Amino acid sequence: MEQTPALKAIGRDAARLLGQFSPIILSNRAPVEPLADGRLAPGAGGLVKALTSLASATKASWVSASRTDVERDIARSGVPLNSSTDPDQGFPIFLAPTDAEGYQLHYTIISNPLLWFAHHYLWNIAVEPVVDQSLHKAWLDGYRVVNEAVARTALATARLLPRRPLFLTQDYQLYLAPELIRSEMPDAAMQHFVHIPWPEPRYLKVLPATMRDPIFKGLLANDIIGLQTSLDVHNFLRCCVELMGLRVAEAEGAVLYGGRLVWIRAYPVSIDVDAMRQLGESSRVRELEAEVETWRTEKLIVRVDRTDPSKNLIRGFLAYERLLEDHPEYHGRVVLWAFLQPSRLDVVAYRNYLDAVQATVHRINARFRSDTWEPTRLELGEDMDRAVAAYKSYDVLLVNPILDGMNLVAKEGPVVNKRSGVLVLSESAGAHEELGAHALSINPFDVDVTARAIHRALRMAPLERAERSNAIGQIVATNDVARWVRLQLEDIRSLTPPLRGQSRARDTRPVLVRR
Ligand code: F6P
Repeated sequence: MEQTPALKAIGRDAARLLGQFSPIILSNRAPVEPLADGRLAPGAGGLVKALTSLASATKASWVSASRTDVERDIARSGVPLNSSTDPDQGFPIFLAPTDAEGYQLHYTIISNPLLWFAHHYLWNIAVEPVVDQSLHKAWLDGYRVVNEAVARTALATARLLPRRPLFLTQDYQLYLAPELIRSEMPDAAMQHFVHIPWPEPRYLKVLPATMRDPIFKGLLANDIIGLQTSLDVHNFLRCCVELMGLRVAEAEGAVLYGGRLVWIRAYPVSIDVDAMRQLGESSRVRELEAEVETWRTEKLIVRVDRTDPSKNLIRGFLAYERLLEDHPEYHGRVVLWAFLQPSRLDVVAYRNYLDAVQATVHRINARFRSDTWEPTRLELGEDMDRAVAAYKSYDVLLVNPILDGMNLVAKEGPVVNKRSGVLVLSESAGAHEELGAHALSINPFDVDVTARAIHRALRMAPLERAERSNAIGQIVATNDVARWVRLQLEDIRSLTPPLRGQSRARDTRPVLVRR
């Protein structure tokens, strides 16, 4: 496929800014999932989409934990997996060996129910989490072990590469890896991007110090820590002061740790707009779009989400129920199409959540349906083409997470939508910092406000719809994935300490303030 302008820009920026480095991306989930029959399934989530652009443009090496038996076999073979089935395309993926039990502790006990919940304020804190011996065991035998395996594989990969390694570690599943890498390669350049919101210090105190301190020590082993928004940066710096007793320079976004400066920066993640538009014009998406026309009603509300408690699916359906209660004129004339990707179903809380979501939809449909109209269309599946067909067809796009690092649905939908649809957006999604002025903002907890926003969106005059959706499209096109990568690469070039005997490109050391 033709390279998109964003990919070309990333390639140019990488050549300009990364000449001295060999980049290595580290993430829990690999960008593709090898299946038993040899096919490659695309990896789930926004992280994979955003980083694949960088890896493709720079031919970076990618290191991930082996998550399945097929991946464990590949890890044992020691041969890297290629990200593409075409051997001339793609980039190498090195899978770190794990054992199934350790990985399960890492993923289903620590990373998702514990760390994800801590970052998204998802606990009912009166009764959970219960920190006990089994949790500590999962931390040591699961989380720590997988982090060490990924770090070791990354170090071995770095030793094969021609230039100074640049470790680009991603997200909350790998907080401990950087400390090990730093101890083995003190001169490495290291950046860690956290794709999810950073909580305020008091909430993070739920985690025992035996977990919290290693998390901060691991993260602060990097030269730069990237977060999504300015509020995340603020919260992180507050945590450094309150939980670790460190000195920070809030205005400059720097922490003094172990005699080194660590920079804390916001880089709002984004999408490849042309790739999304190309996909929107593909024959399969057009076919799916035509199929939507056969069943859609006059107005269509769409939501596309992983089945994650942070996505606030149930309150979204309750808001829709309120809309149908208050406005019988919509009966038979509107459908809410929820296209949901089942997620993390090996985690109990996620299974229970999906059950609750389905029960809510069934109840609402049973209450309002008629012989010719089903108010909510709930589809579970993993199919980007179908998601894009939904994006093209909506009048209202509902994005109402309780809290979200960024939320790429809020960026993907508006750039392909054909109906000047309106974005109803949670004020607690990271994307709100960029797009809030042109969306209809909602408090995600308030179902009445959400119902009213959907109502307003459904009745909005065409001119206002067009103005709002054009403005969002322009912001996303300007703040695209190439910009996300460029801002990080510029900082890596100017802020990582030079190797001994070399000078840094630009010195912007802050004046440190005492606590
Ligand atoms: O973007 C957040 C994130 O947790 C990524 O780290 C992850 O790759 C993606 O969402 C999907 O989550 P999972 O890998 O647990 O399915």
